[in-house]
Amino acid sequence: MCLAELVEAQFGKDKWQQIMTAAGLQPTRKFLLIETTSDKDFTNLLAATSQVLKLSQEQTAQAFGEHWCTIFAPRIYDPYFKRAANAREFLLQMESVHVRANKNMPMASPPHFQYEEEGPGKLVMQYSSERNLEELWIGLIKGVGKAFHERLEINRLDKNRVEVVFCGPA
Ligand code: HEM
Repeated sequence: MCLAELVEAQFGKDKWQQIMTAAGLQPTRKFLLIETTSDKDFTNLLAATSQVLKLSQEQTAQAFGEHWCTIFAPRIYDPYFKRAANAREFLLQMESVHVRANKNMPMASPPHFQYEEEGPGKLVMQYSSERNLEELWIGLIKGVGKAFHERLEINRLDKNRVEVVFCGPA
């Protein structure tokens, strides 16, 4: 649903319909907020978006992450954003937020995060999920920086492990 909104706003409705067709889905099908999209549909949609818009998978995941964190999530999950004073605090809350999301959505199996706190200006974050959506995860971290108007430096330590340096206001 968030991906549809992003593509329609930036590239037009017909591009979204092309993407849905390329992903093997009914072009007019609507996704609801409460439903969890199947993993296969989601992965196909991301791949089809890259293909139709001629973007790399990394660019697509990043654009999605940014849109989700800055426009889509603040509309629905505003209290989570208000509860955190800055991007670092917000990222640190993500493990418990996802554990709670899991309890409320029996079909969901959200990712897990581990942290190594390296003082106020840095955070090492590790992602684990059977879905291996690492590029999406990194896009979401970038989006968190945007949502809190902060400049972040993201250094990849491993496929699923990054060091985030908080560099002050954007
Ligand atoms: C208020 C904020 C957030 C809420 C309520 C939330 C909740 C959720 C929920 C419900 C899912 C779907 C799980 C499923 O269907 O199995 C999900 C997936 C995911 N979330 Fe979040 N999320 C939030 C922010 C973030 C942030 C900031 C990140 C990254 C730092 C993140 C990373 C991911 C990833 C990568 C997935 C894809 C599924 C996977 O990798 O297994 N989320 N989240």
